[in-house]
Amino acid sequence: MTTFPDLDVRFIADIALDRAQEQAEKYGVAGSGTVDELLADDGIEIVVNLTIPAAHVPVGLQILDAGKHIWAEKPFALDRESGQQLLARGREKGLRVASAPDTVLGRGIQTSLRAIDAGEIGTPVTARAVFRSSGPEPWHPNPDFYYQPGGGPLLDMGPYYLTSLVQALGPVARVQGRATRARTERVIGSGPREGAVLQVDVDTQVYGILEFEEGAVAQVEFSFDSAFAYTPVLEVLGDQGAMVLPDPNQFHGDTEVFPWGGTPVTKKVGEQPGRGTGVLELARAIRADVPERASGALAYHVLDVMLSLGEAATSGAVVEVASTTARSPRMPEDWDPTVATL
Ligand SMILES: NC(=O)c1ccc[n+]([C@@H]2O[C@H](COP(=O)([O-])OP(=O)(O)OC[C@H]3O[C@@H](n4cnc5c(N)ncnc54)[C@H](O)[C@@H]3O)[C@@H](O)[C@H]2O)c1
Repeated sequence: MTTFPDLDVRFIADIALDRAQEQAEKYGVAGSGTVDELLADDGIEIVVNLTIPAAHVPVGLQILDAGKHIWAEKPFALDRESGQQLLARGREKGLRVASAPDTVLGRGIQTSLRAIDAGEIGTPVTARAVFRSSGPEPWHPNPDFYYQPGGGPLLDMGPYYLTSLVQALGPVARVQGRATRARTERVIGSGPREGAVLQVDVDTQVYGILEFEEGAVAQVEFSFDSAFAYTPVLEVLGDQGAMVLPDPNQFHGDTEVFPWGGTPVTKKVGEQPGRGTGVLELARAIRADVPERASGALAYHVLDVMLSLGEAATSGAVVEVASTTARSPRMPEDWDPTVATL
């Protein structure tokens, strides 16, 4: 965000004050300190809430009560009630509640979405999303939250894939699922706590079948139980062709289109700074007085789909998804985070 001329990063807060100070020094940010000090600064308009999942809503409510807009990290909340509370507080206060993931706003996935909208694969009929890894504990120094409620591969990685699918195919109507976990303990692999053992309190392998309101069906898999290499898969099959989308956890990546009976086409995508795109898009939307694309309503629907999938996996039943959402307008092709527009 410090590289975008439209954003002015003023303060970094954390309950661990040394971490806030260290990051502020590293990125040349003028202020650092407690959340209360951050919220008392009248010059700050948007707060980017990068706390652990269990703190997303309590800290989010503090941010709104201080009169500031939120960029929320994923998952949006741990349960529907608190997610709705956050949206309602935003509405009451007339403040924006926007949310990760913003990779979906990157050139990679946006190129795929524009090609789907243009009918390049006809009407989408089915989709498949697969995320597999061995879990974050080899590289993350404090991976506790990944194995507590609010974590797991579904709530941690699901938002990237499911937000992309919702943007491509529309809202999800109902889900079925199954879930397992390969281990009851995980061992931290790096950093000062290397060797510490964590209890696994979430399913670490989740399968789902999603039925979309407009009729498409998707098969999804999210796993921290795979010892073999990271293989992100995101595909959409239409009645006129197939598409392989780029990794939805990245801002870039090519789209491959396979027209039925025709020659495959690769849509090459150039690189652009990505991290912080959602916050920048939010800032520009506030100034233009138009809705932000990575809205809290979209994030809430994706949360609802994930919670429904978890419930379906536990009960074995088909679970109806109560919430709905709309596709966001696609990003303009010439959208450039590096130019000053405000
Ligand atoms: N690690 C990644 O690569 C990555 C990528 C994208 C999104 N995220 C998301 O970002 C969030 C944070 O992940 P992380 O890996 O940076 O975790 P982390 O544990 O490294 O950092 C979280 C920070 O939040 C602070 N914190 C916790 N509770 C707080 C509170 N109540 N008030 C103020 N500060 C508080 C902690 O002290 C810590 O410094 C998660 O929601 C995660 O899903 C992480």
